[in-house]
Amino acid sequence: MKFNVITLFPETIHSLTDYSILGRGIKSKIIEIETYNLRDFGLGKYKQVDDTPYGGGAGMLLKVDILDKAIEKVRAQNKGTFVILLTPKGQKYGQSQAKKLSRKDNITFVCGHYEGFDERIRELVDAEISIGDYVLSGGEIAAAAIIDSVSRLIPGVLGKEESHKDESFEDGMLEYPHYTNPREYKGMSVPEVLLSGNHGEIEKWRKEQAQKVTKDKRPDLK
Ligand code: ADE
Repeated sequence: MKFNVITLFPETIHSLTDYSILGRGIKSKIIEIETYNLRDFGLGKYKQVDDTPYGGGAGMLLKVDILDKAIEKVRAQNKGTFVILLTPKGQKYGQSQAKKLSRKDNITFVCGHYEGFDERIRELVDAEISIGDYVLSGGEIAAAAIIDSVSRLIPGVLGKEESHKDESFEDGMLEYPHYTNPREYKGMSVPEVLLSGNHGEIEKWRKEQAQKVTKDKRPDLK
């Protein structure tokens, strides 16, 4: 799977994706992340990428012609890529979209910055996604969050001992709780059943706990 990211701040993407589980996925060539610096498509001596809004108002907008040039280049180098605009006005992202995206083999993210972008960019992309009802200063954190959540669903990215099968949001539920040493800490103890060695009982307890925690914390999920 290849991810392309059009951004004014390519280092911020790599600082979030090149380590740990994703870093391993990149090293073993299961995933690839390429950044395209929007500044390289800018105009004139100062490589201008933004301009003031028609009708007045605060801030600068990313220019549609500059974004178009960048998207065209990425599309030319990545046949069939699925281009996603990151914006708080997009469709709300969740685990079900992560699963759908994990079946694609080439995805491109367009990260906005400053006040936003010229509205006409919407005609040039395949989808618009928001990672939540809050406004970020740019799309980079959203791109990294989506790359991370999609990558861990791609076979081979998680190690043998790691699995997303029991993770939160699988089967529409939150995950059961985990414990490790010490067995006692500040009066808090590890549930007896986990020390019992009885795998049937442990499995049953975990199922019940997943249901309980989902009902208590996220009743909207069920
Ligand atoms: N850019 C700014 N805010 C965002 C959000 N909530 N989701 C995706 N991209 C964004």
